[in-house]
Amino acid sequence: MQVVRSLAELRAACAELRSRFGSLTLVPTMGALHAGHGALVHAAAASGGAVVTSIFVNPLQFGPNEDLVRYPRDESGDLMLLDERGCHLAWLPDVGTMYPPGDATTVTVGGPAENWEGAARPGHFRGVATVCAKLFGQVRPDRAYFGEKDWQQLQVVRRMAADLLLPLEVVAVSTVRETDGLAMSSRNRYLGTAERALAPRLYATMRAVVPVLAAGGPAAEVLNAAQRDLTHAGFEVGYLALVDGPSLHALPAARSGARLIAAARLGSVRLIDNIAVE
Ligand code: PAJ
Repeated sequence: MQVVRSLAELRAACAELRSRFGSLTLVPTMGALHAGHGALVHAAAASGGAVVTSIFVNPLQFGPNEDLVRYPRDESGDLMLLDERGCHLAWLPDVGTMYPPGDATTVTVGGPAENWEGAARPGHFRGVATVCAKLFGQVRPDRAYFGEKDWQQLQVVRRMAADLLLPLEVVAVSTVRETDGLAMSSRNRYLGTAERALAPRLYATMRAVVPVLAAGGPAAEVLNAAQRDLTHAGFEVGYLALVDGPSLHALPAARSGARLIAAARLGSVRLIDNIAVE
């Protein structure tokens, strides 16, 4: 696997890979890679194109009170995992490359970016959309792989790619979980022992609620009861909501394509998760 840190090297490496493999597949990440990222790279490798993985902790998507400074970094571990999972090229730009001096352009997505994470983390999706647009422009991938773990992010990137007529396909990969059901996340390492033991309860509660919602009755009462249970157990629930998958609009009752989405804080760690309501 080749590792590049400048745009000139990236361009040369992408041109070479494109001529050898016929197409390019991009997996954007912020590093501190785990098996969830590994699954994205593995799936990307199966697409047949050359796999480019970016590692960039994007300052623009962190709020002023968020964890940019303490965001975990593990470059050598990351490069080892990428190599093992079949990545061909690792792209590690610095902040000056991604945000050139005097930069004055950002990408703001409406619609699916407006509620939930968008409301809880003002500016977050502007940061995500902007950095993804830049990565797409640098690598010019035929496909970009994103995890369903960040369901709203996936829909925001899909919306942006469609609206800006970007010539790439956005591909979704299922959430990878620990054996106890907790969705893997770079931030899970900051859970204390008691918090870590409690954390799987979020997904367990969501799973328990799904068949009740899927029966098609009014969602409000079921969701309120589940939220009360989580709060009682020690979660600080941000939202637990039934939404239309692509648009993220709240739904009064389940219908085809519905998704149950949740955000809940345990101590200093904000967990997010989602599940299909079939
Ligand atoms: P990061 O949190 O590093 O995640 C990179 C990609 O891995 C995202 O598409 C995310 O959804 C996926 N991912 C994370 N945990 C996963 C899991 N348990 N199962 C499956 N996929 C998982 O998301 C970002 O970085 C950034 O916002 C980024 C898109 C790179 C823009 O900066």
